[in-house]
Amino acid sequence: MNFELTPLSLASACQDKTEALIVLVPETFKPGKDAISQLIAHALEAKDFDLKAGQMLAAYRVAGIAAAKIWLLGAGSASAVHIKTAMSAVLPQIKSLQVKKLTILFPFNADASAIQALVGAVGDGTYVYTTTQSKPKGRQLKNVYLGVPHLEPMIQKAFDIAKATWMGVEVAKEWANRPANHATPTALGLAAKSLAQGRKFSCEVLGPKEVAKLGMGSFISVAQGSREPLRFIVMRYQGAAASVAPVVLVGKGITFDTGGISIKPAPEMDEMKFDMSGAASVLGVFKSLSQLMPAVNVVGLIPACENMPDGQAVKPGDVVTSMSGQTIEILNTDAEGRLVLCDALTYAERFKPAAVIDIATLTGACVIALGGVRTGLFASDDQLAQALYQAGEVSQDLCWRLPLDDAYGEGLKSHFADVANVGGRAGGAISAAKFLQRFAKAFPWAHLDIAGTAWKSGAAKGATGRPVGMLLTYVLTHAAEKSAPVKATPARKVKA
Ligand code: BES
Ligand code: MN
Ligand code: ZN
Repeated sequence: MNFELTPLSLASACQDKTEALIVLVPETFKPGKDAISQLIAHALEAKDFDLKAGQMLAAYRVAGIAAAKIWLLGAGSASAVHIKTAMSAVLPQIKSLQVKKLTILFPFNADASAIQALVGAVGDGTYVYTTTQSKPKGRQLKNVYLGVPHLEPMIQKAFDIAKATWMGVEVAKEWANRPANHATPTALGLAAKSLAQGRKFSCEVLGPKEVAKLGMGSFISVAQGSREPLRFIVMRYQGAAASVAPVVLVGKGITFDTGGISIKPAPEMDEMKFDMSGAASVLGVFKSLSQLMPAVNVVGLIPACENMPDGQAVKPGDVVTSMSGQTIEILNTDAEGRLVLCDALTYAERFKPAAVIDIATLTGACVIALGGVRTGLFASDDQLAQALYQAGEVSQDLCWRLPLDDAYGEGLKSHFADVANVGGRAGGAISAAKFLQRFAKAFPWAHLDIAGTAWKSGAAKGATGRPVGMLLTYVLTHAAEKSAPVKATPARKVKA
């Protein structure tokens, strides 16, 4: 899909020979003399239309308007949330009418977050999964023009970031949606290699032998029940000087989670193909980075394997030695995410990171706690927590911080090892985070539990591409902070 930003006034939008035109009308709207303004004014007067976010009026072949179909769309306060609400009201119609060329008009000065919400909503609302379809129909919408009154640099920049985010989100959706037999650890490794190509990028994919040499006994124990060989993926993007500490993103890459010997019940087990959504979000962020090439250093780490029951599979009660040297008693083989992540966190130490963020579909308990609206955020560092929370608000890819009191880790005590891989059922998302925290002492660390937000079940079953938006916003903000001068220099007077 081709997405472009273009200067367009209400008067010139009347002449635009696009197939469909959506006009976002905020509460502050002041009509002009053009045909679109007149249509809006009449509809408002007749109470056939109002400006609450998501209110709609569709019209066809209106005199003085070149577009065949036109939607007036209430945009409320034109905030990011209202733009998102408005677009999700109209997009199902665009999709079902199979519109190919669409113009969306902001006949007012939109801010950066509104532009980002709009691009995200259009990308999301028109996405179609096709990879394993024999007769794919694909996305019907081919060209989208976003019309704004003036092409200001701020707006152009917001648009570029939004477009890059959307491309990253699509990569994340694509990989998370792919069935487990099409998204094996090996396939993820190849995808990472092709995403991390070109200047400033590099990628290394380790196999079972190299991982054994590193001493990742915990990761290996999860992989050992599967015929699919594990992969440990290391992606690097160096946009800043080598001396700048990187942000490390660690994505859980369980390409299928049966639960292992502690096997899961059959209903909805297919959804465990999404258990590599954390990994998919790391791939997505790298796609976005390749579009924007910002001045920041980012490392992506993905421990990828299947969790299967087998004669060779790890058993409840087995004790394994992690790369950190800590021994782990595996009381439940279905708590496998933390077992692959802990070794990746230890591996992250070598980068002397500014921050490490792991992203994982880690616990059903997090789904119960926060549902599908906000991702669970845990952090050992208040500044990092705040930065991620803010990034979530700006990108409307929301999260909510949960506590890490030491008392929540009590249940992880083991009689036979340094730590057990499960606590009790109560506070399950937090005890999982407490387990990870033991392996993340060497750097500022945050953990995102995306079990509830990475995909939707039911009729709208599919990956959401979250939290690419939050992560990218965080990384870009971090880059901006790093490149800002440490001390403000007094402004010098410039001679006229
Ligand atoms: N991948 C699951 C978590 C999950 C569950 C994600 C439901 C999305 C929806 C994870 O590996 C898991 O099985 N966690 C267990 C942990 C338990 C055994 C302590 C869980 O949440 O039930
Ligand atoms: Mn599991
Ligand atoms: Zn899992």
